[in-house]
Amino acid sequence: MEYIKDFEKIVAEQIARVERMKISDEFVDFEKTDKIIIGIIDGDGIGPVIVKEAKRVLNELLKDELASCKIELRNIDGLTIENRIARNATVPADVLEEIKKCHILLKGPTTTPSKADNVPNIESANVTLRRELDLFANVRPVYIPEKNIDWVFYRENTEGEYALGSRGVEISDDISIDFKVTTTDGTKRIAKAAFEYAKSNGNKNVSIVTKANIMKKTDGKFLDLCYQVAKDYPDIKVDDWYVDIMAANLVNEQIRSNFNVFILPNLYGDIITDEAAQIQGGVGTAGSANVGARYAMFEAIHGSAPRMVSDGIADYANPSSILKASEMMLRHIGYTEKADKLSVALNYAQANKRMTGDSSGETATAFADCVLSRI
Ligand code: IPM
Ligand code: MG
Repeated sequence: MEYIKDFEKIVAEQIARVERMKISDEFVDFEKTDKIIIGIIDGDGIGPVIVKEAKRVLNELLKDELASCKIELRNIDGLTIENRIARNATVPADVLEEIKKCHILLKGPTTTPSKADNVPNIESANVTLRRELDLFANVRPVYIPEKNIDWVFYRENTEGEYALGSRGVEISDDISIDFKVTTTDGTKRIAKAAFEYAKSNGNKNVSIVTKANIMKKTDGKFLDLCYQVAKDYPDIKVDDWYVDIMAANLVNEQIRSNFNVFILPNLYGDIITDEAAQIQGGVGTAGSANVGARYAMFEAIHGSAPRMVSDGIADYANPSSILKASEMMLRHIGYTEKADKLSVALNYAQANKRMTGDSSGETATAFADCVLSRI
């Protein structure tokens, strides 16, 4: 019955995490920060290919700030699958220490080994970083003006099925159990972030997405608390949906334009945002912001595509997603004009460069050259 002790430990850890959440609110005021340090993590697979292009674009966009040392672009090494396996650590301690010295991060995709890979059971680096840096809001915009689609997903980023995803228990050869965690503070802060965004953008509609009819304790709590937070925003129209029908709604052309802002627990947010990104033109086109009180990390929403590397076509990876993430990062630190400039240049490149993910299309470098031609 060793697992009963493990479960006690898990519960104690979650209680301690909630206590930490209650006391942490160290927001950074970027206007008052003398030097903003942007940590850049290449990642692995196609990561280095697309991050290299993002660096070229940022070096150009921020050349004055880099020259005057208002901003530093700092390479963070060591978050590669090889180093992580060699060190048997999801995020090696020295790498995490370097990361914590930065204000914000731009991160390429990192590979998560699966059970079949026959390597140590290391957790996804994304999940570890989101937890270690307490990046509770995963914000993913999907914008398709010609289809009248303007969606922003607020995915809870530190709880749900992900909080203990690597800590499930194999009770016996016959039974495995995983855990799902929902907390009051964890839910309220993601709901508040979503409603604040909706409010400051003209009271956009907010939709809560759960499976509260089945996951009664966790999703039930999530749903109740979102409605509780909604009471502070009486001018906002709120509704709620189960995740299965929401997956259908997104491809229902009759109604999908009515949706604006979504609040979702972690796993549903993961799945629904890939679907939404596909509607926009593929996961290669969508950026993602992981935002906490102290830190923020910006990344592509897709993985490291190891198959593109083994097939020898990594150079054809689409850097749009990481460039979109760069745009979100610039907006986060208050560089709105530069973010707008990048957005226009990115739209131009998307309209003029055909990215297919193989040699029938353009390379990442050719795409970034096109972006740079408009900056
Ligand atoms: C994402 C990714 C990650 C997730 C993986 C890489 C762990 O799919 O950012 O959506 O599941 O959150
Ligand atoms: Mg995902």
